[in-house]
Amino acid sequence: MMLRQKNIGYSLFQQLRRAKCSQIDKQNSTDALKRPLYLDMQATTPIDFRVLDKMLPYLTVDYGNPHSKSHLYGVNSSSIVEEARENIAQLLNAEPSEIVFNSGATESNNTALLGLSEHHFNNKSIKNHIITTTMEHKTVLEACKYIQKRFGFNVTFMDVDEYGRVDINKLSQIINEKTLLFSVMSLNNEVGVIQDLESLGALCEERGVYFHTDAAQAIGKIPLDVRKMNIDLMSFTGHKVFAPKGTGGLFIRDKKQYKKNNKPAIQLAPLIHGGGQERGMRSGTLSPPMVIALGEACKIAQREMENDNQHIKKLYERMYERIFREVPFVKLNGHPVHRYFGNLNISFKYIFSGDIMNEIKNKIAFSAGAACLDEPSYVLQALHVDESYAFGAIRIGIGRFTTQEEVDYLLDTLIPIVNNLRQKNKVYQQHFAKQNNQ
Ligand SMILES: Cc1ncc(COP(=O)(O)O)c(C=O)c1O
Repeated sequence: MMLRQKNIGYSLFQQLRRAKCSQIDKQNSTDALKRPLYLDMQATTPIDFRVLDKMLPYLTVDYGNPHSKSHLYGVNSSSIVEEARENIAQLLNAEPSEIVFNSGATESNNTALLGLSEHHFNNKSIKNHIITTTMEHKTVLEACKYIQKRFGFNVTFMDVDEYGRVDINKLSQIINEKTLLFSVMSLNNEVGVIQDLESLGALCEERGVYFHTDAAQAIGKIPLDVRKMNIDLMSFTGHKVFAPKGTGGLFIRDKKQYKKNNKPAIQLAPLIHGGGQERGMRSGTLSPPMVIALGEACKIAQREMENDNQHIKKLYERMYERIFREVPFVKLNGHPVHRYFGNLNISFKYIFSGDIMNEIKNKIAFSAGAACLDEPSYVLQALHVDESYAFGAIRIGIGRFTTQEEVDYLLDTLIPIVNNLRQKNKVYQQHFAKQNNQ
């Protein structure tokens, strides 16, 4: 019986594999594209086949409940969960016991911020001040606003510099004896800027402030070391690193790591109550296939990060070089060097990004930087990008599987669209008329 089920399981797996492979062959050939080319890797990534390979048996054959360890099914599922925990811990230089699995970075950010605040509120701690930045993900901004209302905490939404980086001297001045936590995104989802986590972590450590980083976009893309960076809490998610949506986790620094430290071991009130899984931090039955997918994605990323980044940087330079050579009045958003090169966020003056999207959406899928027609994105506003540029922002997201052919297809499509839209723009025409009359 077991054998028969195994065969069924694996034949389904082979079929899926074949179907996916033929899909990618098509995807690689832009001529044969039946749907727009996907270049929005900050929104989500496709599942790596190796990740899919790893997870399928745990959907079909080894489907035990990892918390029911009185029989082989549960034992197998539990051991695969622990293997995943180990893979993630290795990538972050953490201990496996410091990893709590959950549904993704939204849940992690909420657990980190609300859990810490609730614990300190319940214990009548004098620490009731949180610092974050104006360009954080909505999951952090909204959780902070909730904490202000629910616990009466003070939250400082500090400014960043024109590239989106935190000024460490400014942060040092804002920290006071009531500061409980500083929270910043490791790698910004919209403009790709990377923070100096090591310096920020050192400052927080020295001043007795807990340090949380939202690494949803960073895990598997840039080196992260929770010890070197003095990180207390780190949020991550699977679907930005070639694992499925709905799987993620939170790193919580273990109490033995606070021995020589001027802050007490971190404690969080859980967000979800129930069976006490994940050391009481997150009740609910874990999904072994989802957890192992995240673990496998991290293992692959650790092995291939350098290769991935070399490949991605080459493609980024190809895009950057041609766009800046062939299109006038274009601006890079975010930092030119301290950035993830899988993110090209650029603004075209004299154009609305919505108009570019309308022209290109049947051919290529990427993201418009402007949130709506009336207002540029809050992240570009945080960077004080001039409105004349902020309305014309687009974000192109490339990744491990993006090819040079696809990048050339993007450039051959995008550049004429931008130049044509400009020709229709009266302000642009007037600008050139003025220049010619001078
Ligand atoms: C920086 C950042 N934080 C948090 C999230 C939310 O992650 P999830 O989709 O796993 O809930 C995202 C996803 O867009 C993100 O980019």
